[in-house]
Amino acid sequence: MKDQVFIPDAQRSGRAEPMATREGKLKHVIESQQFTVPLLMELFDRSRGMERVVERGGTLDYQNRIMATLFYTPSTRTRLSFEAAMQRLGGRVVSTEHAREFSSEIEGENVEDTIHIVGSYSDVIVIRHHEEGGAKRAAQVSHVPVINAGDGDGGQHPTQALLDLYTIYRERPLDGLSVAIIGELDKGRTARSLAYLLAKFERVKICFVSPPELQMKPDILEYLEGHGVRYELEPDIDRIIGEVDVVYQTRIRPERVTGLRSPQQYAINSAVLRKMKPDALILHPLPRTVELDKSVDEDPRALYFRQAVNGLYVRMALLTMLLDKE
Ligand code: CP
Repeated sequence: MKDQVFIPDAQRSGRAEPMATREGKLKHVIESQQFTVPLLMELFDRSRGMERVVERGGTLDYQNRIMATLFYTPSTRTRLSFEAAMQRLGGRVVSTEHAREFSSEIEGENVEDTIHIVGSYSDVIVIRHHEEGGAKRAAQVSHVPVINAGDGDGGQHPTQALLDLYTIYRERPLDGLSVAIIGELDKGRTARSLAYLLAKFERVKICFVSPPELQMKPDILEYLEGHGVRYELEPDIDRIIGEVDVVYQTRIRPERVTGLRSPQQYAINSAVLRKMKPDALILHPLPRTVELDKSVDEDPRALYFRQAVNGLYVRMALLTMLLDKE
């Protein structure tokens, strides 16, 4: 993988990506498309290193640094893994959970003012905002790095996609992958962010599996077309499940599935498992409901709990890339 010559996305497309790097360094993490392949490889190398750091119980290298977490909507994995990541690095955490209720937003303060203040108390800010574009607004006024931990209902969740890709990378080469992304894709911020990252690699094929009314939005499809990535839109899981290397399952809220279809038609269960390739990888960003049966947990192809653990390593690595001066 590392022996291959990669063409950074910005070079391939001939234009700079938004929120991109300054002098080759990350400034903020807002959208998946800002990552180039060399940056991804640096992140993954550091993440491998963090696996060893955690085994040793952590480091004190960042003991004078403070991370602020501002979560306007609920989270288990993202907030706690970021907070654990900072503490494993020796840093400290200041946090507002339920920020819509327990921050000054309830008194009408806008996100720009909040970030202005929080940035003067901390070295990096992790924000999950209820509005699409909320993290980008935060980054535009922030003097410290801002990390998007999920914005709106149909925005992005780039750090989830980074850990998803790392989980796949730990198992097999990323070039040439065939990936099924399944679920409620029009509002799937993890699915959207992962599609952008997969587009960085050669000969990738993506199959978006969803009821037609919940299919992936045109902005992603246009991006894939612009980057020469093959994709298809498929309403029937059975037609593709035996062909793909990676099954990326995401939530599907029963109330959003209309007409004659049912969410069960998109679920991974023991019957679907039997149709998959013997070496397929099964990922899910979690939390899950009906779309991923508990019977899948024992299958050796199920990687979603390891994926959540990888979130710790990748977020530690990302924090170091943002906090390191050199
Ligand atoms: N995958 C994910 O973002 O989970 P949380 O909502 O628990 O952070």
